[in-house]
Amino acid sequence: MPPDSDGTTTTVETMPRRAIKCVAPARVNLLGEHTDYTGGLVLPMAIPFVTEATIFPREDGLYTFTSELLNKTLTLDHTDRSPARGEWSDYPVGVLRQLQERGIEPPSFDLHITGNVPFAAGLSSSASMEVASAMAMLALSSARLTIEEIALLCQRAENVYVESPCGIMDQFVVTAAKAGHALLLNTRDLTYEHLPMNKGALANTRIVVCNSMVKHSVATGEYGVRRRELEEGQAVLRNAFPKLRDLGDATLDQLNQCQQQMSHDVFIRCRHVVTENARVRAARESMFSGDPISLGQLMLQAHISYRDDFAASCEEVDFLVDTAITLPGCFGARLTGGGFGGCTVNLVERTHSDAFATALKAAYKQYVNIAAETYLCEAVDGAWLRNAPLPQTRATQERA
Ligand code: GLA
Repeated sequence: MPPDSDGTTTTVETMPRRAIKCVAPARVNLLGEHTDYTGGLVLPMAIPFVTEATIFPREDGLYTFTSELLNKTLTLDHTDRSPARGEWSDYPVGVLRQLQERGIEPPSFDLHITGNVPFAAGLSSSASMEVASAMAMLALSSARLTIEEIALLCQRAENVYVESPCGIMDQFVVTAAKAGHALLLNTRDLTYEHLPMNKGALANTRIVVCNSMVKHSVATGEYGVRRRELEEGQAVLRNAFPKLRDLGDATLDQLNQCQQQMSHDVFIRCRHVVTENARVRAARESMFSGDPISLGQLMLQAHISYRDDFAASCEEVDFLVDTAITLPGCFGARLTGGGFGGCTVNLVERTHSDAFATALKAAYKQYVNIAAETYLCEAVDGAWLRNAPLPQTRATQERA
């Protein structure tokens, strides 16, 4: 038996199970909402909430899934192909299924999930869990996939197994983000650019996320409705302009020319996407010139478009945005994520950020009698792997 890295040797009987841990962040989207399934642009960043997926090998042909939140173990064998259960475990099981479909059959494992990403808040707790699980399973299998492949595999797990029709933004940024940067992603071809958040006066700002703590029950179904409306409008546009690849290419002029061929709702949903893509392009310029004033204005215009054309906001969130922009130091605010509740993202002068968060929560409490939460966020790296500490077995204690 070869010596361990510290020069000692251990017998098979006392060898502790070497765990692998993958840590994945959450994300907040600065701009580019519902543009990521029609070839458009998005500008999210990873934020310092985490999902930790710790994977231990086992040797009996089984897979187990546990979470710190639930005192329940899901056990599956290698041949299991059962459908989703409507539980948290659907996310890692969906990832396992996708790996198996690619011909990657992970050895038996125990997968344990912990973390602190707020649920149902629009901060991508599910993508965080998928990516953490995927990277842990890949590491255990000694298999490698590229960033693009991991993100696409996790999106497919969600689309096919969980049956949620999400785009690619969340899984991509959770995998590919870079600390101190936002990620500008072209969702048509998955080319991306890390945009620095510390140029010029932007260096003196902070991203403050405010969780409205409301999630309207329409949310799940409405996402699919919006997606179908956009795909309908996109089909009309492609028909009229055969060279157009998708909505990501369309101009407002082309959309206006097609207005009579689509319903009013489909028209204004598409208008949101076409103008939103233009706002993301403009935001890139604002970030490179370090200009929080223009970036904040773009965020505010994006909120108005998300609220009026895309009809994806709600009274509580509108109150948070309307209040935020009256507070000292706030450059811009908008609803972030899939819509119908969840969080706002605010660009705030750094020295004002604590007072801003306190004032916003106080006003909200007074208006809707709900205690909002605020998170002052720096942009962090995408998912990473690390060896989990060895469990304290006799072997490790003896070597200590
Ligand atoms: C959710 C989806 C994303 C994206 C956003 C809206 O977060 O998972 O793919 O569509 O909504 O921008």
